[in-house]
Amino acid sequence: MTPQPSLSRDELIRRRDAVAAEHGAWVGHNIHLGHGVYTIDARVVGAENTAKHLLDVVGSIARKPLDRLRILDLGCSEGLYAIEFGLHGAEVVGVEGRAAPLARARFAAEALGLSRVRFEQGDAREATEALYGRFDVILNCGLVYHLDAGDVFRVFENMAGMCDDLAIVETHYAQTVTERFEYRGQEYFGVSRREHEDGADLTVREKREWASLDNAYSFWLSKPSLVNALARSGFATVTECLYPAILSYGDRETFIARKGEARPLRAVPLPGIFEDRFLPPVETRRPLASWVGQDHVDNPATTPKYFDTTSRDLDTMRIRLDAVDQRFDTVEERLNGVAGGLAAVESRMQALERRLDESVPELGRLSRETERLAAYSESLQESMNAWLKGIWTALNTTTSEMGRTREEIERVRALQRRPWFMRRSG
Ligand SMILES: C[S@@+](CC[C@H](N)C(=O)[O-])C[C@H]1O[C@@H](n2cnc3c(N)ncnc32)[C@H](O)[C@@H]1O
Repeated sequence: MTPQPSLSRDELIRRRDAVAAEHGAWVGHNIHLGHGVYTIDARVVGAENTAKHLLDVVGSIARKPLDRLRILDLGCSEGLYAIEFGLHGAEVVGVEGRAAPLARARFAAEALGLSRVRFEQGDAREATEALYGRFDVILNCGLVYHLDAGDVFRVFENMAGMCDDLAIVETHYAQTVTERFEYRGQEYFGVSRREHEDGADLTVREKREWASLDNAYSFWLSKPSLVNALARSGFATVTECLYPAILSYGDRETFIARKGEARPLRAVPLPGIFEDRFLPPVETRRPLASWVGQDHVDNPATTPKYFDTTSRDLDTMRIRLDAVDQRFDTVEERLNGVAGGLAAVESRMQALERRLDESVPELGRLSRETERLAAYSESLQESMNAWLKGIWTALNTTTSEMGRTREEIERVRALQRRPWFMRRSG
């Protein structure tokens, strides 16, 4: 089916730009709207590779031709895959949690006149048969690794519940695992990944269009745990698609889960030999060949050790550690300041010590001089005392001598005043 644009080129561009102005521009899904008008650009942007990959996988292995398929596209974003299958005649329901990419998807489907493609705003975690009906094919692309641990299993169960044929799970998986998760009594391994900061409110989370809807963490399962989860949800086989190939991230694959009937083994009708055919939930734990149908004792040398704490605890601890680290830096800065002050004080003390050392001989000389001066001053004092005593005695003698002389003068004057005093003539 070739695109049937119901609008002129100018009108397409005007309406595309109006949608982009109101809901944001297309970021990942490049769609040809007709008349050479694209949602992003007339070149390959990225998701086109996945669209071709999905088309080839579903087109070659689905049990019905494309134009007779009913397809569910979970977490459909801007709707490229849904529209692609719609253009091949399939009836498609795209479910997307965010309003903005959904508006862009709806516009593109409408512009292409795809009446059998509809887009619903909804939470993929709640998608059930009761809401959307049954499907031949369910696409779960770029979504599983945005879901939290418990939700991954429930979504797989819901998918199995409404799927008649294929579930295509295109997803990242954990290559190293740190956490063990139990669901319905079975163990799964994986690692928690941060989706949103704790403080980010729903408005902020809504704007991060390629992240989880609201959960702050997602849980990436190891590849074997992911396969086991799909198998235990009710899919009969799970295969990994090697060709048609997809752009490789190294830790991302397309898993094809297929519904099917369990048939009894007739050639070797021994009961119970394949009771449990699930994979060891972590790749490194047990080689499958030595494990199927046997009791297996874990080899402690090859069994990885899992942290008691989850990655989330580690994440929280990392944030706390960062805070402590910052405080440590501040304390260290202050300590450096104090150490600088101490060094300055120490160098001043050393300078004073040096000056003191230099002053010691001078002090000795001065003290000897002082002693000498003190002795000299003492001897001076003694001589002065003796001298003063002499003066004093002389003064006393002179004073009493003067007194006597004065008395003699007075006596002579009194004699001279007598009339009988005979003046001796010369
Ligand atoms: C990484 S994008 C993948 C989009 C598209 N399926 C693809 O492969 O190109 C994830 C999309 O899933 C949507 N999403 C995430 N969690 C969801 C949820 N719980 N329910 C519905 N949509 C969800 C996001 O809004 C986003 O559009």
